[in-house]
Amino acid sequence: MRIPSGIPELDRVLGGGIVPGSVVLIGGDPGIGKSTLMMQMAAGLGKLLTLYVTGEESVQQIKLRAARLSLSPPESLLLLAETNIAVIEAVIERTSPGLVIVDSIQTMYRQDLESAPGTVSQVREATAALMRLAKTRAVPVFLVGHVTKDGIIAGPRVIEHMVDAVLQFEGERHHAFRILRAMKNRFGSTSELGVFEMHGGGLREVSNPSEVFLAERKYGTSGSTVVASMEGTRPLLVEVQALAAPASYGVPQRSSTGFDLRRLQMLLAVLEKRVGANVGRYDVFVNVAGGVRVDEPAVDLGMALSIVSSLRDLPVDSGTVAIGEIGLGGEIRRVSQADKRIAEASRLGFTRCVLPPNNMRGLTPPSGIELLEVESVEQAVAALVGSPAA
Ligand SMILES: Nc1ncnc2c1ncn2[C@@H]1O[C@H](COP(=O)(O)OP(=O)(O)OP(=O)(O)O)[C@@H](O)[C@H]1O
Ligand SMILES: [Mg+2]
Repeated sequence: MRIPSGIPELDRVLGGGIVPGSVVLIGGDPGIGKSTLMMQMAAGLGKLLTLYVTGEESVQQIKLRAARLSLSPPESLLLLAETNIAVIEAVIERTSPGLVIVDSIQTMYRQDLESAPGTVSQVREATAALMRLAKTRAVPVFLVGHVTKDGIIAGPRVIEHMVDAVLQFEGERHHAFRILRAMKNRFGSTSELGVFEMHGGGLREVSNPSEVFLAERKYGTSGSTVVASMEGTRPLLVEVQALAAPASYGVPQRSSTGFDLRRLQMLLAVLEKRVGANVGRYDVFVNVAGGVRVDEPAVDLGMALSIVSSLRDLPVDSGTVAIGEIGLGGEIRRVSQADKRIAEASRLGFTRCVLPPNNMRGLTPPSGIELLEVESVEQAVAALVGSPAA
């Protein structure tokens, strides 16, 4: 039995809604929108009695935020500005809320412990106390947690082990997109992803992320390829970009945003060996447009095409979506769920998909899209780099 959060993208990441008695940690960089997300959820929960505990902002500040977000908080929303766990426990006992939000766990403290709020023992004990409440009363609890520079939830790692789910709210500071990802989930898959857009009026759900991520694509320029990445059960088309520029200092630079750097180095080595690309003399920068991160081998082929395209300054056919993992021999390897990726490409008006041979068997493509089988990265480069923009 799950409670809908009122935010379908959040429900998707939770695995289909909020599980009673579960404790969910929402982590993210300062200012990314954690409180906004929690506030929007709280305001949308309707009749469910919700206790929003704030240790960071005053009740007035929360009201201001609600006004800015044009939310009309329901009568069933209780606000409590408090950081003492014992008081919070007492309020929960007295009011019996159906959902509790604690913003943030780093500000909470237990009086009987000597250390300051935010220290390892305080954060751990505060979490333990809220876990006990959640489990004994079967009330779901959301904990907001700060994240340090290196992406770890501040405070002890042990709280990540204690809670039922850890959701990471991430995004590039200068992009409006926010991605909610499950890092751990005892009640669902960790591969689902929620996509939001932050604007003055708060977070807006993005239900057609492919369209949004491709919106700023420039046609006919070199170093750009569209790939189809699977994020959980949902295909996501994104543009992967590469820029190769002659290296001016001894060791060529490799820099990556949104793509694994070691994977990039592997792809460069394969391109050098199998395609004869002279990557050693170039600085190579790669970027996934829109501030998303793609961690899936199926985007290898698109990334390799973007790199060669930039090296040769010839565009990749812009009507094509590239799908395939690249092996060390330069071979294009099978990917999962090819049919869903192709369907998404077709839906967005792409006319061609390049695919690994092992994915071709038994596929019936949607009409209007041509499937091109490529066995090797050389073959893909020959077929796609330098073809006129569609
Ligand atoms: N007046 C405003 N107009 C437009 N956007 C705003 C305004 N005020 C805040 N924002 C947006 O809301 C974001 C802050 O959201 P929020 O307070 O939910 O973040 P948070 O993750 O809870 O931060 P913290 O870690 O500091 O608690 C800002 O980064 C900004 O993008
Ligand atoms: Mg906040």
